[in-house]
Amino acid sequence: MAIRNIVQVGDEVLRKKSAPVTAFDEKLHELLDDMKETLKAANGAGLAAVQVGILRRAFIVDVAEGYFEFINPVFVKTKGRQVGEEGCLSVRGKYGTVERPRVVEIKAFDRDGKEFKLKAYDFFARAICHEYDHLDGVLYIDKATDLKIEGKSK
Ligand code: NI
Repeated sequence: MAIRNIVQVGDEVLRKKSAPVTAFDEKLHELLDDMKETLKAANGAGLAAVQVGILRRAFIVDVAEGYFEFINPVFVKTKGRQVGEEGCLSVRGKYGTVERPRVVEIKAFDRDGKEFKLKAYDFFARAICHEYDHLDGVLYIDKATDLKIEGKSK
């Protein structure tokens, strides 16, 4: 495993649409393992493959409910709304207020190509929506109603 460099806003790769994962092989496992290590080192809640420069539809989320890997995810249903603050490892030193669904039902594949379905609430749902957006080249700063500098009083 290795810690990979996290691409920062301004790099055009973050604006590209990721392509589906087609091979659930050793290379994918290595990518996911590296992403997991990179996320832990950065103390983040989620990371998409594009954030380490790989344009594939894969992201990981590490929240109170546990650690999850999502490959080729598709939303089944979204419900409700929540307004809260979020940040992004590709937009260092900032955070902003973003509206997201409160509940999401998502279908995805695990690292071995097995399909699963999952229902997430609150912050878990927020993290999934944020990471999913990365797969389509969307950043939370596109949706935020305000943007603040970390460490400064509100
Ligand atoms: Ni992000």
